[in-house]
Amino acid sequence: MPYLRKTRSRRSGGAAAFLALALLTLHGCQPDASSAAGSAFLDAGGAFPAEWAFAAEARPVTASEGMVATTDEYATRVGLHILAAGGNAVDAAVATGLALAVVNPEAGNLGGGGFMMVRLADGTVYAQDHREKAPVAATRDMYLDADGNVTDRSVVGHLAAGVPGTVQGLWEAHERFGSLTWAEVVQPAIDLAGGFEVTGRLVSTLEAAQNGIRTFEASAGIFLPGDAVPTVGDTFSQPDLAQVLTRLRDQGPDDFYRGETAALIAAEMERGGGIITLEDLDRYTSVWREPAAFDYRGYTVHSMPPPSSGGLTMAAIANLVERWDLGAMGWNTPETIHVMAESFRRAYADRNEYLADPDFVELPVEQFLSDEYADSRAATISLERATPSAEVAPGIDAFLDESHTTHYSVVDAGGTAVAVTTSVNSWYGGKVVVDGAGFFLNNTMDDFAAKPGTANQFGLVQGERNAVGSEKRMLSAMSPTIVEDPDGNLFLITGTPGGATIITTVLQSIFNVIDHGMNVVQAVHAPRVHHQHLPDLVFYEYRGLPATTVQALEALGHTVRQRDPGPPDAYFAGGMSGDVQLIMVMPDGTYEGWSDPRRGGLALGR
Ligand code: DON
Repeated sequence: MPYLRKTRSRRSGGAAAFLALALLTLHGCQPDASSAAGSAFLDAGGAFPAEWAFAAEARPVTASEGMVATTDEYATRVGLHILAAGGNAVDAAVATGLALAVVNPEAGNLGGGGFMMVRLADGTVYAQDHREKAPVAATRDMYLDADGNVTDRSVVGHLAAGVPGTVQGLWEAHERFGSLTWAEVVQPAIDLAGGFEVTGRLVSTLEAAQNGIRTFEASAGIFLPGDAVPTVGDTFSQPDLAQVLTRLRDQGPDDFYRGETAALIAAEMERGGGIITLEDLDRYTSVWREPAAFDYRGYTVHSMPPPSSGGLTMAAIANLVERWDLGAMGWNTPETIHVMAESFRRAYADRNEYLADPDFVELPVEQFLSDEYADSRAATISLERATPSAEVAPGIDAFLDESHTTHYSVVDAGGTAVAVTTSVNSWYGGKVVVDGAGFFLNNTMDDFAAKPGTANQFGLVQGERNAVGSEKRMLSAMSPTIVEDPDGNLFLITGTPGGATIITTVLQSIFNVIDHGMNVVQAVHAPRVHHQHLPDLVFYEYRGLPATTVQALEALGHTVRQRDPGPPDAYFAGGMSGDVQLIMVMPDGTYEGWSDPRRGGLALGR
């Protein structure tokens, strides 16, 4: 089990007992139906900053027979419908993913890729990699101009697309674990493609992306009807997409990778100067990988192994952070943020340099999981002073984060849990719709280091190992994650979009529960911080830190930057990071869940 880090042998029984007790307290304080949310966090006097956007006192969604948390109400309802029809969590996840491709086309997709974690009720955990692959014809320098400078071709247009993996991945997950028929799980998406009422979220994302979409005729023809963003309440129909989904229902992935849809993708590529061929589509495979697993204070965290960087980077961070008692140090205090930022900085330095597609590059997996390596890393952390990133590795200064990806979490009555993070990378990917097929293609080729040592669109400065290569998978931060409690029982299902911030956001959702005694609402609502080694900055969400905390961090030597709230948006919260979909199993076996209000999602149970 090369990706499994065993429980730290030097942890004292006393600490474990204390944490178990803290958890009991947390559970013991969950609200009854008539009260506002309680939690160990509030009981201990915890509070969010006065100016912060979200409350600590809302009540979680509760359920006993299953729960679905997604960024979109239609998609959540599809998942719940499948559970109610007798489907299991994998059936519901597949149906939800396909629904997101229809109602949430800025991130939900057929033309992108992602990762799925499945934990069956018997405790076995599976990791499904349906990440895009570089086309056969891809070359290391394909995004550089004649002077060796990076162009925008990895971000916009046909060359930006990797070979899509979502269709194959969802199919394989259903083949392996589904209990309803394939037709039953595909049908809700077909129905939605027939027409659904336009939501504020679709309007907001189209408004943000419309200039890019307008440059591609097939894209604008569908998504900007009459050259305008549709209005909330309009009926939005996608007949080409409905056809693709119908063929998917009737022919499985063969149509997408070898049939009529494959031909449409190949024709679109030829028209736009892209390089994905029929051969690329035919050769695409998704991969069942050994999950990354690590211990955090007695809890076992299962997440994605490479080509996602999520599992290993979270393991490396957890192995550093665990040396300090974050709970005792307090949530959102300068001390806790300092320890997290120093740990994030070091783990991201290694992530950015070393991680890539394991099918192409040898990875120092042990380094990310080993206590000895963490000992040496931890020894360089001072509680008195921030370590400049230049002393950890060289760097540059650029950063951008928006939530273009999407995550969904599902659990069924039998206790099977599914976490999926899926993406076309940027909102609406490279803005290219496959003519006649009605779906956007990803621009995930930008997750490669187009020019090693140069920042990508998320400001990530990645190394030679993650250079573009024929048929290689590009490194990802997507981290669908399932956590077991110290007794080995299902405990948390979590995940988020957010580019480079995914890893730190997922971890904070876990720390908030385990270290700070928050319930699911608080764990999702709480403002977050981020550090990714380069740029050498501690980012915090708009109004997420009190001025005194910022000053204390600056006194330690951190450069601290508040996220810009940007122009007012009627739908999305500005200056925020992430879109966490969190489900927790309570001691009595019931579920509590919460969908991040930053993007307007919904958790529903039954
Ligand atoms: O795989 C990755 O790490 C990125 N393609 C994820 C992109 C993302 O989360 C978009 N939101 N910022």
